[in-house]
Order: sequence, then structure tokens, then C-alpha cells
Amino acid sequence: MRLEKKSPCKVNLILNILGKRADGFHELETVMQPVNLCDEMTFERAGASLQLTCSHPELPCDSKNLVHRAATSFLAAAKISDGVKIHLQKNLPLAGGIGGGSANAAVTFAALNELFSAPLPSEKLHALAAALGSDIPFFLYDRPALTTGRGEKVELLEKFSILRGKAFFLAHPGFGISTPWSYQNLARFPKELNGKPGRAEKLISLLQTGYLKTAAAEIYNSLEAPAFDKFPLLELYQEFLRENGALVALMSGSGSTTFAIAENLPAAEKLSEKFKSQFGDHGWTATVEI
Ligand code: C5P
Repeated sequence: MRLEKKSPCKVNLILNILGKRADGFHELETVMQPVNLCDEMTFERAGASLQLTCSHPELPCDSKNLVHRAATSFLAAAKISDGVKIHLQKNLPLAGGIGGGSANAAVTFAALNELFSAPLPSEKLHALAAALGSDIPFFLYDRPALTTGRGEKVELLEKFSILRGKAFFLAHPGFGISTPWSYQNLARFPKELNGKPGRAEKLISLLQTGYLKTAAAEIYNSLEAPAFDKFPLLELYQEFLRENGALVALMSGSGSTTFAIAENLPAAEKLSEKFKSQFGDHGWTATVEI
């Protein structure tokens, strides 16, 4: 049996950091919105060991790769010693703040569980995913979610009706931002490091009942502070997108991807053209319906 799976990404509609914890991680509240732009993965039972191949020359295929670590963790927990062959076709940018690597890992847990006839219950998959990375559990579910703790506590939400028919424009500048770097440098911005709890719940209630314009005023990302300080270009991206009709423009996760929300797909495509004529097309851009 050979499984073919799509590995999507996300944007954070709000990312509110609440403080640094004793274990070094940061307590946070964030609203994660799935985005249907995908890497592609295949899984099959073959050979005598774990073999990972990847289309991206900069991605290692050994235990430094989250997919390799997810597969190793799954096989150990399920006490499986059979060979597995995995291929990752990387379409999304690396270190982009859109959860590409985390999604690859989550898809690996779910696909291997399917390939071996479900030896692990979903709570176990969630626990293995959380142990591997804060954002990975979210990608086990295909739904918007409020995530808390260090990101691993997932509360699933209904799709936001006011986003129906709207579209995303995403722009990656061609350089990535390391997540540990972002969190370390947040220490220089005490206000952003110690956000007030409750902002994510407020945004959710506006997204569920209000108008996008009212909700837009509440979108926020604490990690923009260190990113803008080092890469002022990212702030220029947002100003330009807002001046050119974006309903919302924000950095996703720890960056470097900026996302904008447009009225519909043609409007997102128009925004994309304007963006590229202003900033060039050396990075990665995409448009997709929400
Ligand atoms: O959990 P994950 O492996 O994705 O986290 C990568 C790094 O990002 C952590 O080692 C930590 O430095 C930082 N991080 C954090 N607080 C979080 C999530 C990540 O400090 N809630």
C-alpha cells in the first residue's frame, strides 16, 4: 500500500505571548487558521529500515528532519520494526512561520498510523506530536483552533463564517526566521513578551459574530517586534498591502511569511501582482481561497 498525503500550512490570526515559563518555553494563546497550500508526501511499507527522501536540497533527510523524528517516534511507540519509505515534496518555504515542518510531522504520525492499521489511539498520537514540537498537534486536525500552553493544547473551533469566500495572499521574503531566535529576542520587548490574556478569545468571538473590519483591529502578533527590528522590510510589506486594499496584513507565527486577507481570490491575485511589481518576485508568494 502506498499513501499519498497533502501536508497543508497555517497562519496565526493572533499570536499573543503571555510570558516566559520556567521550562524556557513561552506561554501563549493563538488562533490557528488552516491554509490549503501544501507539501506532498508519500508513505509506503518497504525495505528494512526508515528511509526518507526529500525534494529540497537544504533539508537534511536524517534525524534532523522532523519527519524522520516523527516516524522514529511513531515506530517506537507502536513497537513496529518494519521498513518504511517516505518521500517529502517540499513546495512551501522553510522557516516561514506557516508551520510547514510541523504539518509534515503531523501528517507522518497520521499516515503511519493508517499504514499500519491504527495501532495507536488519537490521544497517543497527540501526545507524541506535542513531545516533538509545540505546533504539531494542531495539524492532526483539519480545523481552525485556539491553541494554548506552549501551543500544544488544541481547542477546535468551527470555521469562521466571516472568512468564507475571502482569500489569502502570502509572501515569504526569501529569507527565513529561526523560531528560537524570535523567542530569545522577544526578551528585548517586555510589553510584547508579557501580553494580557484573553485577546485570542475576544478575536474568536468577533470572528464568529462580528464584521471582519472590527475583528481586523484585534489581529496581533507579539513576535513581530523582534522580526521588524531586524527586518524592517517586513513592516513595509504590511504597510504596502494595507494601502493596496488588504483587509488584514500580519506576520504569521515567528515569521518570515506575511499574510494578507483579501475580499476574494481575484482581489488576492491583484494584490499579489501589485506586491510583486513593488518588491520584485525573488521570494515565494501564493494566493488561495480561505
Ligand atoms: O516546540 P518547538 O520545537 O516548535 O519550539 C522551537 C523553539 O521555539 C523552542 O525550543 C523554544 O526556543 C521556542 N518556543 C518557545 N515557546 C513556545 C514555542 C516555541 O519559547 N511556546
